[in-house]
Amino acid sequence: MKFFIDSANLEAIREVKAMGMCDGVTTNPSLMAKEGRTDTDALLKEICAIAQGPVSGEVTALDAAGMIEEGKRLAALDDHMVVKVPTTYEGLKAIAALSGEGIPVNATLVFSTNQCLLVAKAGAAYVSPFVGRLDDVGEDGMDLIADAVEIYQNYDLETEIIVASVRSPMHVADSALLGADIATIPPDVIKKLVAHPLTDKGLAGFMKDWEKLQGGTGS
Ligand code: G3P
Repeated sequence: MKFFIDSANLEAIREVKAMGMCDGVTTNPSLMAKEGRTDTDALLKEICAIAQGPVSGEVTALDAAGMIEEGKRLAALDDHMVVKVPTTYEGLKAIAALSGEGIPVNATLVFSTNQCLLVAKAGAAYVSPFVGRLDDVGEDGMDLIADAVEIYQNYDLETEIIVASVRSPMHVADSALLGADIATIPPDVIKKLVAHPLTDKGLAGFMKDWEKLQGGTGS
């Protein structure tokens, strides 16, 4: 399973890339706003330079014509750019048009099985079901991932499934067990993935015994 980093923070992306855990990056208007930079195109280009993999930048127009125009501008920023389009009626038209021109599209804000089917039929390169936000409203977000995996297998659809709105290490493990193509993970969750209390406890024990040996107090 590929790991994308769900962040627009350059330092965080650099750190995860250096760890070998960054196959791409996803951003959205909220993540961009967190960085407080108004030169968003320049920021996306810097992210592409670090990631050296697919980088999703989201359109902000609400009508198909505006999304298509914005999507083409975003795609031209860098070869790694993927255009993120919200899964609305207008968005579907934009997904079909941009995909038809060979521009990779990430269909975002996906919350239902039918939306997964529609965006794949429209030619989206990626689909982003938001599992955390479904959990927030009392549904099981991972059920939607299971549905998407099954439907795409049933019909040999090539759209890659990006598990988005990931909030916890369990979302990542469950994504891998279900066979999702990608999980886009916030940097703080990446850190949690490696942590285990028994690793820390075991290491502390080893270090204590090692120090005893170095001090000559070992038997
Ligand atoms: O990838 C989508 C993500 O940025 C949304 O996450 O935590 O705001 O639901 P969240």
